[in-house]
Amino acid sequence: MNKQYYIETFGCQMNEYDSEKISGLLNSQGYLETTDKEEADLVIFNTCLIRENAENKLYGKLGAVKKLKLDHPEKIIAVCGCIPQNQEIRENILKRYPFIDLVFGTNTYDQLPELLYDLTRNKRKIIAIAENSTNLEEAVPKTRKFSHKAFVNIMYGCNNFCSYCVVPFTRGRERSRSTSDIVNEVRALAQNGYQEVTLLGQNVNSYGNDLPNNYYFPDLLRELNNIEEIGRIRFISSHPKDVNQDFIEAIKTSDKVCNQLHLPVQSGSTKVLKEMNRKYTKRQYLDFISDLRRNIPDISISTDVIVGFPGETNDDFDETIDLIKKVRFDSAFTFLYSIRPGTSAGKREDQIPEHVKQQRFERLLSTLYPIFEEKNLQHVGEEHIVLVDDISKNKSEYLTGRTEGNKLVHFKGSKQLIGKLAPVRITHAKTWYMEGILI
Ligand code: SAH
Ligand code: SF4
Ligand code: F3S
Repeated sequence: MNKQYYIETFGCQMNEYDSEKISGLLNSQGYLETTDKEEADLVIFNTCLIRENAENKLYGKLGAVKKLKLDHPEKIIAVCGCIPQNQEIRENILKRYPFIDLVFGTNTYDQLPELLYDLTRNKRKIIAIAENSTNLEEAVPKTRKFSHKAFVNIMYGCNNFCSYCVVPFTRGRERSRSTSDIVNEVRALAQNGYQEVTLLGQNVNSYGNDLPNNYYFPDLLRELNNIEEIGRIRFISSHPKDVNQDFIEAIKTSDKVCNQLHLPVQSGSTKVLKEMNRKYTKRQYLDFISDLRRNIPDISISTDVIVGFPGETNDDFDETIDLIKKVRFDSAFTFLYSIRPGTSAGKREDQIPEHVKQQRFERLLSTLYPIFEEKNLQHVGEEHIVLVDDISKNKSEYLTGRTEGNKLVHFKGSKQLIGKLAPVRITHAKTWYMEGILI
């Protein structure tokens, strides 16, 4: 009988994609996936360290799995991803949850088959962590979650060391994947019927900075745009410091590259931005946005905002609100600042009290939400091409998919449309989604 594994993924798309690779490796070893922990021979938590609540989620899960392990000592409990990359936290977890059998990190998942072999053969706890990796990707099979859209890694790691962020510590230094490997992967996906690829990296627009041949992210966009069979190309995330004319031109002139950009701003205060080590000012960010909109008028722009960074004053926060009102984002992810181990901002003494963060957070949302709704309302009456992802979770006769601008659309249609591009006329708009009818 085949062994079964259960995998739960926390965190960003990078982790989701790593889980597809972990699944691919396990499937190639004869393991089958199960959605039931009780049935699994191997239980894996692919973890995230970005904020304290992401960390706490893991502790909750480990607390809950303890009894399962006691009742079934033969089950293997594994923790991987970003959390174990931090030595202190890793050691703590192993102390607090001694029943964990296997720990591996963001740079060692490719060794999983050998680690499992070692574990079952030698009956000892295995810990495999590395700070950096080379060529991790190419040897690893992937079991992709969807058959119409796929993630493609183009960069690993991050060099930016924003003062609040753990990612440079959990993912190592920036490495660009070889252009030919990326192009071959996208071509193969397209030839296998994939409509959409999302290029992944912590900072995709610094692609090529570490490569020898003066080939950068806009060059990659143009080259991928020439692959005939692919329908749509997206990418996340971009850093404002690397927005330049060539980047804007490449989005504008590459018809398959979606007119959509996730451009995390984090704060509207130039003082806070400097302390965050973001390398741009409020003025510069606003200029990037006007440049983008002048060149690509229908571009949809989303962002990330952090409230309550250490030392953030009411005036600083007003600057954030002002920036939001000027830019009018299509959507945004919003976060309460969270102290992270090893980061320089985490060591500051001028941390903002929780209740102040909370008040600012509420003001942030009440500024953003009406803008999202107004932005969506502007699309009512328009025709959009929607890549259909699935049946709607709430209403089974509805389908759900995304426009070129990455907006969620629900509309009535048959299951046969899943995975296809469908023309839809928008009829209603809400804060987080739109409704339409199939044309
Ligand atoms: N590399 C991506 C983002 C990675 S993390 C980028 O730079 O765009 C995703 C988001 O989490 C960040 O954009 C930031 O808004 C938020 N974030 C990161 N560290 C945080 C912290 N310590 N507290 C709160 N939010 C944080
Ligand atoms: Fe974190 Fe900044 Fe790197 Fe994004 S660019 S992963 S926020 S350090
Ligand atoms: Fe979390 Fe690691 Fe992504 S810390 S946000 S899973 S890179």
